[in-house]
Amino acid sequence: MNPSTSLPDAKLAPQADSSVLQIWGGHPLQGHVKISGAKNSALVIMAGALLCSGDCHIRNVPMLADVEKMGQVLSALGVNVSHQDDILDINASSITTSKAPYELVTQLRASFFAIGSILARLGVAQMPLPGGCAIGARPVDLHVRGLQAMGAEVQIEHGICNAYVPGGGRLKGAKIYLDTPSVGATETLMMAATLADGETIIENAAREPEVADLANFCNAMGAKIHGAGTSIITIVGVPQLHSVDYSIIPDRIETGTFLVAGAITRSEILLSPVIPDHLIPVIAKLREIGVPIIEEGPDCLRLLPAETLKATYIETLPHPGFPTDMQAPFMALLTLAEGDSIINESVFENRLRHASELNRLGAEIRVKGNAAFVRGVPMLSGAPVLGTDLRASAALVLAGLAAEGLTTFQGLHHLDRGYDRLDLKLLQLGAKIKRVQEIPTPELTSNGSNPPVTTST
Ligand code: EPZ
Repeated sequence: MNPSTSLPDAKLAPQADSSVLQIWGGHPLQGHVKISGAKNSALVIMAGALLCSGDCHIRNVPMLADVEKMGQVLSALGVNVSHQDDILDINASSITTSKAPYELVTQLRASFFAIGSILARLGVAQMPLPGGCAIGARPVDLHVRGLQAMGAEVQIEHGICNAYVPGGGRLKGAKIYLDTPSVGATETLMMAATLADGETIIENAAREPEVADLANFCNAMGAKIHGAGTSIITIVGVPQLHSVDYSIIPDRIETGTFLVAGAITRSEILLSPVIPDHLIPVIAKLREIGVPIIEEGPDCLRLLPAETLKATYIETLPHPGFPTDMQAPFMALLTLAEGDSIINESVFENRLRHASELNRLGAEIRVKGNAAFVRGVPMLSGAPVLGTDLRASAALVLAGLAAEGLTTFQGLHHLDRGYDRLDLKLLQLGAKIKRVQEIPTPELTSNGSNPPVTTST
């Protein structure tokens, strides 16, 4: 096994302009991959830092375009943000405005969650609606209804969510039931409740590990949150929160993505740091498909080559069910399983768009409503493919690792939003992959041949 090698220092997440990924499939991976901090913790913890009137020193922050964008949102609010490698220092002692920038919030759904912390700190917040995206309408009605239950007046006009506490006082503790165990709504309301007057109870709360990570971050600042990670969370409001030094949990979805990368290329790889308890449905499903996974020590997984991949049934559910963010990568894997698999996407209403792109690589997938019927094929063949959202893009890259010949992936802006240098980490594992500047197909030369067009960047 290759010794684990550190990634070259990257000061900023790569800027995906018109670059594409060229992937030559059929090569096994080997070695150790270092898992970065969790994207869906980092973004909401950055919003949580607004609750603090002191210094927040946050470690194990992944290198992502979304983290940079969230930093711009905080800076626009007058917050002091400095970001060096995987360390973020945030000081929100002076927030100069409660109005978040429209063009940034509409691009980054997680920034909307900051409405809870801004309202808790200032008693007023103007937050642009995040809008829908490729995977669904993604409304914020549960966030709004919860804030109203805590005494906020909320009006939505011209695409802006205007919220304020009448009389300029504090939010009030309330008992809130969420129709859906929404991750974002749970996080928004938990943050709002940390500085409210009295006790808040959130019932049917989301149980994702990132919710518990946010609660641990807030408690490290002096908040009083109990039950995070279960479906009933109790928060007793406190007057203010103090400075904190906090390290973010490893990214379970990045871990799952690399587990699938190893499985689809029939490789043996080592992954750390990981928290196996955050991956129970993912590990169980991979083992059911026939992929051996060994827990080596408290924070390390070893994946071994599968003899054959067996078809299975997957239904995405809120945690601790099978995570919707792993649905697309597993669809890529199941295109090469023996037999017919069924995947039911029950969390988002439009999260199967990668099926048609996988079919371009020779897969046999039929989509009907929120279900995908995947007939396993012996081989995929490389082709140009287009990513439609973050996890769909990852699925296409994984399929490219197994497809025969060259796959050209377009959509790096999706990938760089949510994965910490995925292509570099795959390269370190031995994948034949490179990020190239796509040059428009040149005019034919005089003798009718196409000159060589790509150089590695
Ligand atoms: C978070 O999104 C994650 N994003 C998503 O990860 C993840 O897929 C999702 O949770 C589910 O686990 C971040 O944490 C930044 P939800 P969120 O509210 O909070 C409906 C990725 O790829 N709903 O749990 O937006 C909603 O429409 C991203 O990393 C309402 O109806 O998801 C959806 O059907 C994608 N009203 C369901 O709940 C609301 O007010 C679950 O959404 C809120 C949500």
